[in-house]
Amino acid sequence: MLVVAGTVFLGTVAMLVVAWVRRGSPGLPFFGDSEKANVGLVIAFGMAIPVTILIALFIVSDLYVMQQTDAPPAGRTELKLVVIGHQWWWEARYPEGGVVTANEIHIPTNTSVDVVARTADVIHSFWVPELNRKIDTIPGQNNQVELFAERPGAYRGQCAEFCGLEHAHMSFRVIAEPKAKFERWLTAQAKPAAEPSGGLAERGKELFDENACAGCHTIGGTPAEGTIGPDLTHVGSRETLGALTIENTPRELQRWITNPQAIKPGVKMPGLELSGSDFHAIAAYLEGLR
Ligand code: CUA
Repeated sequence: MLVVAGTVFLGTVAMLVVAWVRRGSPGLPFFGDSEKANVGLVIAFGMAIPVTILIALFIVSDLYVMQQTDAPPAGRTELKLVVIGHQWWWEARYPEGGVVTANEIHIPTNTSVDVVARTADVIHSFWVPELNRKIDTIPGQNNQVELFAERPGAYRGQCAEFCGLEHAHMSFRVIAEPKAKFERWLTAQAKPAAEPSGGLAERGKELFDENACAGCHTIGGTPAEGTIGPDLTHVGSRETLGALTIENTPRELQRWITNPQAIKPGVKMPGLELSGSDFHAIAAYLEGLR
C-alpha cells in the first residue's frame, strides 16, 4: 500500500513540476492544443486510474490484510487473555489459574494468543504495533485481536484512543517469553501474596488494610479486595508503575504512593494523609509482594 500510495504521490508531484516548468508555454506537452487529449487526460488521471487503484487496494486489504490480522476463530488459540482498559491503566486477566495483573502482560512466544478487549469505563484502544493492529475497547462489547510474537522480548503497547487526561500515560508492555518461562511466571502469579517479612513491612500491611488502599486494590489472600485500581498481589514483580510512567524501585514506589498526582496529574488514585515513615512502611510492604 505504501508503494502504491508513494507512486501516486510522486506522479502527482511530477505533473505539478512539469506544469510549473512549462508555466509560460501554452497547451500540453506532447499533445499541444488537442481538445481530445485534454479530455482523455482528465478521464485517465482523474477517473480511470484512481478508481482502478482504489478498487485494487480495497480487494487486497479486504481479502488478504484483514484476514491476516483478524481475531482467530473461537477455540483455535492456545491461550486466551482478557484485557480491560481503565482510566488510565490496563488490567489483564488469565482465565487459566485466575491470574490478574496490570500493565505488564506476559505471553508465551510462538503461541497465538486470543485477546478479548473490554473496557471498565470509556473507549480505549489496545495497540501493540509490533504484534498486530489496534483494537478498540467499547463499553458493552467484547472485541478480539490476536497477538503472536515469534521472538522473546518486551513489546511496547499504548492506548490509541483519546480517553481523558492521562491518555498518554496509558501504556503497557507485552513480555513474550519462552513457554516454560511463561508457565513459571503464571504459576508464581497464581499464588496468594507473600507474607510481609520484617517489622516495617508488617506495619505497612496494617496501614494498607486500615487506609483507603484496600478499598481500591486487591492483594490476594488478604482482606484487600478492591477492584477499582490494579491488582497488587505481585506488584513487586513488575518493572514499572503507573502504566509504565515510572520505574518500580523502592524510591519511586514511595514517591508514587506519597503523591501520585505529582507524577500523573488527574490519576484516580488519591494521596493519603500519612506521615513519611508510614509511606515508607507501605512501600516496604508492597515491594515485598513479588
Ligand atoms: Cu485509554 Cu487513551
